[in-house]
Amino acid sequence: MQFKVPRGTQDILPGEVEMWQWIEDNIRKICRQYHYAEIRTPMFESTELFKRGVGETTDIVEKEMYTFEDRGGRSLTLRPEGTAPVVRSFVEHKTYGEPQPTKLYYVGPMYRYERPQAGRQRQFHQFGVELFGTYEPESDAEVITLGMDWFAAVGLEGVTVEINSVGCTTCRPVHRANLVDYFTPYQEQLCGDCQSRLTRNPLRILDCKKESCQAIIKDAPSIVEAWCEECTTHFSQVKKELELVNVPYRHNDRLVRGLDYYTRTAFEYMLENRQGGGQASTIGGGGRYNGMVKEMGGPEMSGIGFGIGMERVLLALKTSEKEFPQMTTLDAYVVALGEQAQEETTRILHELRKAGLAVERDLLNRKLKGQMKAADRAGARYVVIIGDEEIKNQRVRIKELASGEQSEVGLEELTHILKEKQI
Ligand code: HAM
Repeated sequence: MQFKVPRGTQDILPGEVEMWQWIEDNIRKICRQYHYAEIRTPMFESTELFKRGVGETTDIVEKEMYTFEDRGGRSLTLRPEGTAPVVRSFVEHKTYGEPQPTKLYYVGPMYRYERPQAGRQRQFHQFGVELFGTYEPESDAEVITLGMDWFAAVGLEGVTVEINSVGCTTCRPVHRANLVDYFTPYQEQLCGDCQSRLTRNPLRILDCKKESCQAIIKDAPSIVEAWCEECTTHFSQVKKELELVNVPYRHNDRLVRGLDYYTRTAFEYMLENRQGGGQASTIGGGGRYNGMVKEMGGPEMSGIGFGIGMERVLLALKTSEKEFPQMTTLDAYVVALGEQAQEETTRILHELRKAGLAVERDLLNRKLKGQMKAADRAGARYVVIIGDEEIKNQRVRIKELASGEQSEVGLEELTHILKEKQI
């Protein structure tokens, strides 16, 4: 019997994992610069959290959650996204009582039962940030810009922002009513999902990808007509802020996003199709959620954030021509010849590792040629050769693999010399 990874998941193997580590290093760097602290929440939460947080009528809650009952009879769900858990934590730990704003980021796996395809998996990873405690438009722009700066840091080109305001509790009902008025005469022509959305959540119709619905959606009333004064002002201030730092954006008044919690700003990071012609793809998205902290039992307090799909970013990076910084290689490979030399190698290796060097040895009892080959394969910069004769003289040979240059040094100065050569 042979096992395979579950559908929609993947192993990240050595060779590929270095790229993950590198983009994760860049996340930590950029978040430090923007002064966001890392938060780690559990992989699963109570099912109710997502129903409340993400919204009962969203695709995520209706069709995509990995929900199970544990042995104690609790209904739990593997997190499909990061915002609801972070809000839960923010309320649970009464972080709202501390001086605001609170700036958090996370990196980790999320789970959605979707049809797997390129860039769509059942276990995928998100880099997300959440910023609490401010309604100011500068904070919307800061979050959006942070994501853009990260794309630039990892060398991803061709990303633009699509941005909209989905209104607030004052103007959203007006837009909702406008949409119901508009779509009702077309009810019969809408797809089954959209027919039920018409009564349950008409805004979600705008997100339908079916061609027949798209034709009707095209002329639907714009949210812009419904915006209240505050939402209009907020939106133009966010745009102005983005212009100050040259973030390329496009106002898309049809943008609604797949989650229900957004108020005012909603945005998506779009990646142009490099193969030319085709549609741009979404690599991340986010927005403001002014009601969720209260909904989860906290005070009236605002939040804004994004989630970026790391697999999608990696896919795009892999197809670009960009060169990646080489991962750390091995400083030295210690080749041992003879029984006594083997013992000495154990001691030397430990000393070199304690000094902070990356070193390796032969663990298969190979002959000189085999060990030299292994050193080459491992990408070692230097080979240190120790034989019984060398031990007697307390000297070892060092060979630089790239140049072939060799020298002999005293055993007691080996650590010092390799440290000096370390990059
Ligand atoms: P989302 O739009 O559902 O938002 O997901 C954000 C990003 O996660 C997507 O743009 C995509 O890149 C990636 N993603 C989603 N599903 C998959 C999948 N099945 N396979 C691979 N990648 C996927 C959120 O999750 C919100 N929590 C974002 C947010 C944070 N809003 C406010 N704060």
